[in-house]
Amino acid sequence: MDLHPSATATLPATTTDWWRSAVVYQLYIRSFADGDGDGIGDIAGIRARLGYLRDLGVDAVWINPWYPSPMADAGYDVADYRAIEPTFGTSEDAAALIDEAHAAGLRVILDIVPNHTSDQHDWFRAALAGGAAERTRYLFRPGRGVDGELPPNDWQSVFGGPAWTRVADGSWYLHLFDPTQPDLDWNSPEVRAEFESILRFWFDRGVDGFRIDVAHGMVKADGLPDVGDDKQEMLGTSDRLDHPHWDRDGVHEIYSAWRAVADSYADTLEGARIFVAEAWAPNAERLSLYLRPDELHTAFNFAYLDAPWDAAALREVIDGSLTTFAGVAAPATWVLSNHDVVRHVSRLGRPVGKGHTLSSLSPIDTLDLELGTRRARAAALLMFALPGSAYVYQGDELGLWEVEDLPDEVLQDPTWERSAHTERGRDGCRVPIPWSGGASPFGFGPEGSTPWLPQPAGFAGVTVAAEEADPGSMLTLYRSALRLRREHPELGDGELTWLPSGPGVLAFRRGPGLACVVNLSGEPVALPAGATVLLASGPLPGAAVPVDTAVWFAD
Ligand code: NOJ
Repeated sequence: MDLHPSATATLPATTTDWWRSAVVYQLYIRSFADGDGDGIGDIAGIRARLGYLRDLGVDAVWINPWYPSPMADAGYDVADYRAIEPTFGTSEDAAALIDEAHAAGLRVILDIVPNHTSDQHDWFRAALAGGAAERTRYLFRPGRGVDGELPPNDWQSVFGGPAWTRVADGSWYLHLFDPTQPDLDWNSPEVRAEFESILRFWFDRGVDGFRIDVAHGMVKADGLPDVGDDKQEMLGTSDRLDHPHWDRDGVHEIYSAWRAVADSYADTLEGARIFVAEAWAPNAERLSLYLRPDELHTAFNFAYLDAPWDAAALREVIDGSLTTFAGVAAPATWVLSNHDVVRHVSRLGRPVGKGHTLSSLSPIDTLDLELGTRRARAAALLMFALPGSAYVYQGDELGLWEVEDLPDEVLQDPTWERSAHTERGRDGCRVPIPWSGGASPFGFGPEGSTPWLPQPAGFAGVTVAAEEADPGSMLTLYRSALRLRREHPELGDGELTWLPSGPGVLAFRRGPGLACVVNLSGEPVALPAGATVLLASGPLPGAAVPVDTAVWFAD
């Protein structure tokens, strides 16, 4: 395997609209590749594997937060937005990575965390040490009840427990996530100016875009009124309109200002700089507001991630997404997994159901990994054939499953403690990637190093090295699909036309002579007469498409 980017490769010449059809690979840095052997993935590890990403055929990488952080929430607690966490490397390493990624034809998207900082950020330390003026960047409030001993309102932290913590002088500060993640007050002009300056800092260093963390959370209702009895779920979802802290209209003003910053770089050599929102909106219409032409370029499509393996449900989400995104002239996006949800092999390997947290899924004894893997193969071909941009979470391409039996004592997600050990949290999808060999660390780090989360023995069968050598592997399927997607640009952004099909079957055309069929029914279906198979997610005995199989074909 060539581990070094080719010196001759560069970013594609057609730069402006690259993001409309891009396949973006999510690099969860602490679990991707460990260059220095401390058990934690780092920038050196990524640099050594850029050749792998180029050969996989993705267009861009999104790197989870790499800034200095006490790591109370795996880096989503940022202490300094303009530097690099020493465990991950240095600013020079980051600059080299950006250059080398570009040389390998890969765009670089960073993660920006504007809803909250770490409690170790200079601003929060000053707020704790200082008076009213230093506190205006955060949300400090007096408590309720006798002597203010009760939190200012009923808001709950996404990780469990009250969203307020009391400080020495008796006042309380808001944290929608962990107590180490105080929420910023976006009414403060200083907060607004600071984040525009942070965007410029990284754009000036050649970064191609940002994924915006909790993009729907920054603005809170005046007076911070109680939520009432609304159910508050992990990740901050709510179906409710006019929620006091999710998806408030006020966020849109922030994003038009950010769009102006990004657009001011449009004429530079690298072309368009873009945003992708992590916005959990209550419905498609509300989500589309983030994507108006003077706001964000794209947003994750969590409705798709949450859809059950059911043809009617998927078709409804696909149609709804295409209509919604087209309504604001934004490309649709598609995603199956990320660092916050149960890996889709493990979701799809359970009886049809809905949910992405471990506690929302049926018990482990209902898990059929073979079924989950077969469906995940079909799901990948379906996703890469849909119009727009797609996201691959590291390890999806290897068919990794959720590691559900991590010992209690290794769990690091704050959810585990904050929920009083009722929610195991998200560590099971964050287990370090197996690259080669028959035992941990499986090439994740140097021989003898100990990965920050234990890797199961079963990873021996799904290492990159094992899958590269296997024409029937998930990795080979992903590589073939992404190669074909490049050869057939009509598979990117554009039109989708449904073809007539029986119940339980999704069949659609993507341009003249190119179509996709996915069989989610209970029995095999025939391929149309004259179809030439380009790629199939599994064997096609007797020219029929078996259950849980997808096919791309020319006709
Ligand atoms: C969403 C991120 O994806 C998640 O990992 C994090 O815990 C929360 N936002 C808080 O920043």
